[in-house]
Amino acid sequence: MTIKVGLLGMGTVGTGVVQVLTDPAGRHPLLQEVEIVKIGVRDTAKPRSVALDPSLFTSNLESIVNDPTIQIVVEVMGGVEPTRDLVLQAIANNKHVVTANKALLARHGEEILELAKRHQVYVMLEASVGGGIPIVNVLKQFLGANRITSIQGIVNGTTNYILTRMHREGGDLQEILADAQRLGYAEADPTADIDGFDAADKIAILASLAFGQRIPLSEVSREGIRNVSSLEIASAARLGYVIKLIARAQLVTGGLEIGVYPMLVPQEHPLATINGVTNAIAIKGDPIGEIVFAGPGAGQGATASAVVADLINVCALLSHPPHPLLSYMPTTAAQVVPPRENQFYARFTTLDQPGVIGELGTIFGRYSVSLETIFQQNRSGKYAQVIVITHTVREADFWQAIREIKELPTLQTVGAILRVL
Ligand code: NAP
Ligand code: HSE
Repeated sequence: MTIKVGLLGMGTVGTGVVQVLTDPAGRHPLLQEVEIVKIGVRDTAKPRSVALDPSLFTSNLESIVNDPTIQIVVEVMGGVEPTRDLVLQAIANNKHVVTANKALLARHGEEILELAKRHQVYVMLEASVGGGIPIVNVLKQFLGANRITSIQGIVNGTTNYILTRMHREGGDLQEILADAQRLGYAEADPTADIDGFDAADKIAILASLAFGQRIPLSEVSREGIRNVSSLEIASAARLGYVIKLIARAQLVTGGLEIGVYPMLVPQEHPLATINGVTNAIAIKGDPIGEIVFAGPGAGQGATASAVVADLINVCALLSHPPHPLLSYMPTTAAQVVPPRENQFYARFTTLDQPGVIGELGTIFGRYSVSLETIFQQNRSGKYAQVIVITHTVREADFWQAIREIKELPTLQTVGAILRVL
């Protein structure tokens, strides 16, 4: 059975989605059933990085949301208008919608989801928060047993990329922003990233899913990174902090505290180590305790991964017979191969006498096992501990060398052999 899909937009995210859908081998089998039948863009003559039949493109977006053959509309064009109208029309025409548009959802989510409920269609929003991190489905499904008490984290890839580079190399916010735009992380109007609007939209969506309540965007406190200068970053570093744009929502006595602020995060805090475009979201719940999710928070591939995951979920419901997404039964056996290469740590207990290290080195050399480090420690009585760390070597060579070392009269025991990550 073929499931017909129309795309609204083929920019950074849309191109990633098309790349996945036009190359389904090795991915989820349901993707074989997806057919892109129309793609709405502003400029149909613009060169595209994926070779597609030009007749798929249209600038008449209404023709997509009103096409009776299309079952799922993937909205990856962004913006609030005319997107809201188009999404509402698609739903009114009984189409399922997959969207990455947090600005739209944070402002008009209630209206959109209400209409979807009436028309019994799905509006899927995994890609709207956290890029490739499947955080929306975690909150919608997998943490359902919990009473959530707080969510906090880094939910804007662009600002985290900028702050990370400012920390590492100094530099000017605007210059680094230009790189983030080139890499496809930033919003069409990057003010949304820099001034915290995007993070505010995202924490409003997450909080609404976590706490099961509407969150008016006007109630979300918001401060961006525009005023975070290199001076603040350097002072914070001297004091043992990293500056991060933190979005958080927490239940406190009397209600919900929700906002986005640039904050000093102690260098040893897990969020301090989240760098570049990576996002991380920590959720506290009862009974789970704290759970943390991290991964690429923006960009073509990460966001396409989330959009396509939603698409697969809807396809599973539409396919005949319904695809049993929750059951899993691989049909072919994997070709498992032995480990080929590794770096090794080895500790040998040897007689403490001249020439032992030379003997070990000679045997390793004979089998092309090159050594990064070799040293002796903990001499006690007539024995010594000799520690070796190899470079990355062929497993077979290493184990041959070990077999020969075990025959050395000076060797007492092989104390430990561990692989180095
Ligand atoms: P983008 O690169 O600017 O692409 C937008 C696409 O939509 C383009 O193909 C554009 O057509 C088309 N489009 C926009 N407005 C249109 C209009 N009025 N009429 C017809 N076509 C229109 O944007 P993006 O980065 O892919 O982002 C798309 C959505 O995903 C946004 O909601 C964004 O917030 C969200 N998102 C983005 C990321 C990311 O990392 N980029 C991550 C998560 C979510 P042309 O190609 O002809 O210009
Ligand atoms: N501009 C957004 C960001 C895209 O940088 O996080 C991902 O939602």
